[in-house]
Amino acid sequence: MPLRVLIGVGGGIAAYKAAHLVRYFKESSHEVHVIPTRSALKFVGAATFEALSGNPVSTDVFDNVDEVQHVRLGQEADLIVIAPATADLLARLATGRADDLLTSSCLVSTCPIVLAPAMHTEMWENAATQANVRTLRERGITVIEPAHGRLTGKDSGPGRLPEPDHIGALSLAVARNQHAEIFRQSLVGKRVVVTAGGTEEPIDPVRFLTNASSGRQGYALADIAAQRGADVTLISASTDVLHTPSGAEVVHVRTALELQAAVQEAAPHADLMVMAAAVADYRPESVAASKMKKDGDHDFSTLKMTENPDILAGLVQARREGEIPSETVIVGFAAETGDEKSSPLEHAKRKFLRKGCDLLMCNAVGEGKVFGQEDNAGWLLSARNTPGAEGREDPTVIDVPSGPKLDVAARILDEAETLLTPH
Ligand code: CTP
Repeated sequence: MPLRVLIGVGGGIAAYKAAHLVRYFKESSHEVHVIPTRSALKFVGAATFEALSGNPVSTDVFDNVDEVQHVRLGQEADLIVIAPATADLLARLATGRADDLLTSSCLVSTCPIVLAPAMHTEMWENAATQANVRTLRERGITVIEPAHGRLTGKDSGPGRLPEPDHIGALSLAVARNQHAEIFRQSLVGKRVVVTAGGTEEPIDPVRFLTNASSGRQGYALADIAAQRGADVTLISASTDVLHTPSGAEVVHVRTALELQAAVQEAAPHADLMVMAAAVADYRPESVAASKMKKDGDHDFSTLKMTENPDILAGLVQARREGEIPSETVIVGFAAETGDEKSSPLEHAKRKFLRKGCDLLMCNAVGEGKVFGQEDNAGWLLSARNTPGAEGREDPTVIDVPSGPKLDVAARILDEAETLLTPH
């Protein structure tokens, strides 16, 4: 259903990215009104926002007074997104100021409000800004974690505005999921490791074996965990995901063996391991040092393979043997097509027992389902009501309805959070 989206733009150098955000919502068929602050207009002109949104742009409560704009736009909005939200704007919103059209629109609105801060690292980390962020979150406003990276000038650190498509997707997830509930601060102080993407197993320097995993579900998990306040490490094999989840540290790997090494390094410090990567079960026994030529002496009709380690099962074993803490929660994934003997769910139940993890997210795949798609669905198998091996033989099956991968990620993390030991 099309939403009435109000985009607020603060006065920072990242204001130019708000133009892309307007386009993101327009292309998804939403109605957009833009309210820049006076200082935002020093970076991007009103004409740009008017042309992109197809609606007039005003800044001041005294513009178009006959239309009572200072209450109408905020009251009518289904979603307010402010990008970039400057330190000054966060402070004004936290103290309930109404000294321009944007802040007064926020005060009269009852819809979800999403703020995407962008500023220099020192300003973001300043105690005053952090206190304002806490206040705003306590009031149910979503404050997106800024991205890490190069800022204006020579400095680098947290404070970058995430990419507009990323802000758009996170904001729509908030609109779908009861205001700030999806990004509640439930993982503060927790260390979460997520694996994502499909491993690549080289044959020679130009050829490799891989699979259809897009990495989107794993990236969505890292996204939500980071927004819930966790310290996130994303171990990423090959993906077609363009943005890096805001606030997550990314470790890039290629092969199953590299993924295993990264998992082994991260696991001893993790509270939650989410193993969403599609790991190749086999790799070529040897990798040719130079390109295998058709007219060379290679036999192309056979490729000798050797088995890769089962990283998930190895993790469960390491926990059993005390190499990683016994409280570490381990989540596995199962992409199943089903066959003439068993349904996808029956296969998943056997996998749950075999792998020994605490939760298993199972999806039915194949024929355009799941891989590379925006939506996902399936079942979560949990031993929560009957802990230990017994619970795995007859797991609780939780239905995960079809929805965008961010919503599915939130559902998986909701369930995983019930298994985490409180601090
Ligand atoms: N996995 C793993 N190491 C492997 C293979 C899979 O850690 N060598 C993990 C995946 O990350 C996923 C889970 O195990 O969390 C299930 O992956 P899947 O490929 O469905 O399981 P397999 O054990 O390979 O079973 P099968 O191919 O027989 O379905």
